[in-house]
Amino acid sequence: MGVAVAEKEIVIYGNSVLREVSQPVEKFDRELKNLVSQMSDTLKKARGLGLSAVQIGVLQRVFIVDLSVVDINETLRVFVNPEILETSGEAEFEEGCLSFPGIYQKLVRPDRVKVRAYDLDGHVFELEVKGLIARAILHEYDHLEGKLFIDYFSPIAKSLVKGKLRKLKAAS
Ligand code: NI
Repeated sequence: MGVAVAEKEIVIYGNSVLREVSQPVEKFDRELKNLVSQMSDTLKKARGLGLSAVQIGVLQRVFIVDLSVVDINETLRVFVNPEILETSGEAEFEEGCLSFPGIYQKLVRPDRVKVRAYDLDGHVFELEVKGLIARAILHEYDHLEGKLFIDYFSPIAKSLVKGKLRKLKAAS
């Protein structure tokens, strides 16, 4: 018997679920662990840096960030019912999103973030980070609020990706 892989299809722009607000997780049970393992397999297969539950169609306040592809000291981090406590600074960096294949854009976001969240066992933790991981956390957190990275595009950047967005929408 091989290793069970539980990857799911990633929800692509055009699907209205991406605009929904996700609901708090109430039980730290087996179902939550299964959800995170599906998300982790999906993220690995897509070679992405982060994924929120809504991107596999589950409206729960859960996201994962895994920067191990770009930083060998990093591992999978799980954030359940996260709260952004503080942000500061500013940085511009090229950003993508697994729900928007082929679209990348330089975006300004805070450079530091302080976040409070629960782990898979229901233990609360706080994390203060900067740089790429801060950006990934802010990007994924937005997904839980139904917010998408294109919302930050300038009018010019938006008009440049208009055709691509239309194609994604038509295919979804
Ligand atoms: Ni995204």
